[in-house]
Amino acid sequence: MDASAATIPDLLLGWYDTHHRTLPWRSPPGSPPPEPYRVWLSEVMLQQTTTAAVGPYFKKFVARWPDVAALAAADEGEVMAAWAGLGYYARARNLIACAKAVAAGGGQFPQSETELRKLPGLGVYTAAAIAAIAYGERSVVVDGNVERVIARLFAIATPLPRARVQIRAEADTLTPHERPGDFAQAMMDLGATVCTSRAPRCLLCPLGAHCAGRALGPEQFPVKVPKAAKPQRHGQAFWIERGGRVWLIRRTGKGMLGGMRALPDDGWSARADGAGAAPLDGDWTPAGTVRHSFTHFDLDLQLMVYSGRDCSRLDPQQGEWCALDRLDEAGLPTLFAKAARLATAAAETGRTSGD
Ligand code: ADE
Repeated sequence: MDASAATIPDLLLGWYDTHHRTLPWRSPPGSPPPEPYRVWLSEVMLQQTTTAAVGPYFKKFVARWPDVAALAAADEGEVMAAWAGLGYYARARNLIACAKAVAAGGGQFPQSETELRKLPGLGVYTAAAIAAIAYGERSVVVDGNVERVIARLFAIATPLPRARVQIRAEADTLTPHERPGDFAQAMMDLGATVCTSRAPRCLLCPLGAHCAGRALGPEQFPVKVPKAAKPQRHGQAFWIERGGRVWLIRRTGKGMLGGMRALPDDGWSARADGAGAAPLDGDWTPAGTVRHSFTHFDLDLQLMVYSGRDCSRLDPQQGEWCALDRLDEAGLPTLFAKAARLATAAAETGRTSGD
């Protein structure tokens, strides 16, 4: 193996200087680093989400809440609604908690990885990324892309997750003292554009001559043990429409989609049997099923449409009416946005077929 610590960072940084991706939260190579607020916000958004999906959300957030003090002072429901569609909503709750902690401490982000780790919701990866990118600290930044690049470069045969210790150690030996933030982002860009999971473009790789995995078949790295099938859950969501408005609730607690606006449902998130009460007695008609995949289970959510007349038992403490033409702004998470599209399409079909 010829993955020498002297050459790899230089080759990679040289490649990054011309091939870096231009992304809204970045400064170009060699220019002053972006503000910590922007780095932090983007890194939280980018956990589990692609750069393409994050772009518009990032721009919307910084336009509306230009600094950490503004975000800390924001209405939490509005922040959750602005996050709707990005998924993994615990991140948004942590974002709010972290903004409040930074604001309470004077409004400046801590400047070292160790201190950043003390903020709510900041794990090893995010603290290292902020320290490297915003402050130029030589911290070891390992995300999924970096993991793949390193596992291939060193042909690491140990399967994930056990391989992570070795991957981190190799990443540590490679991380330079100069430009550690650019180095981290160069690794990410290499993983995203050249050393891709499928069909890696080894001919374009600046590290190709040093890569132990290349000749062995890079796609086999990182080695993974096959995933167990996800459990399948079933549930029902309830669509109650009156005079061009639909009944929405706000989900409580910190559990699945907690704090988000939603359609009433039968408790699928806590129970495997899908059984639960509709919010009103009367006639309910099935309008189809929405499929959605969460991290730990797949869900088939049957949409039930209320065809009764009496809505007087709906509790205004639990929910509110939302005009159908404002539903896009209600901040529904993707599962319920899909269900709402199904309901409006079903109503449309009913109208055009003369039902
Ligand atoms: N994924 C996570 N952080 C990133 C960053 N700073 N640039 C590009 N992709 C990323």
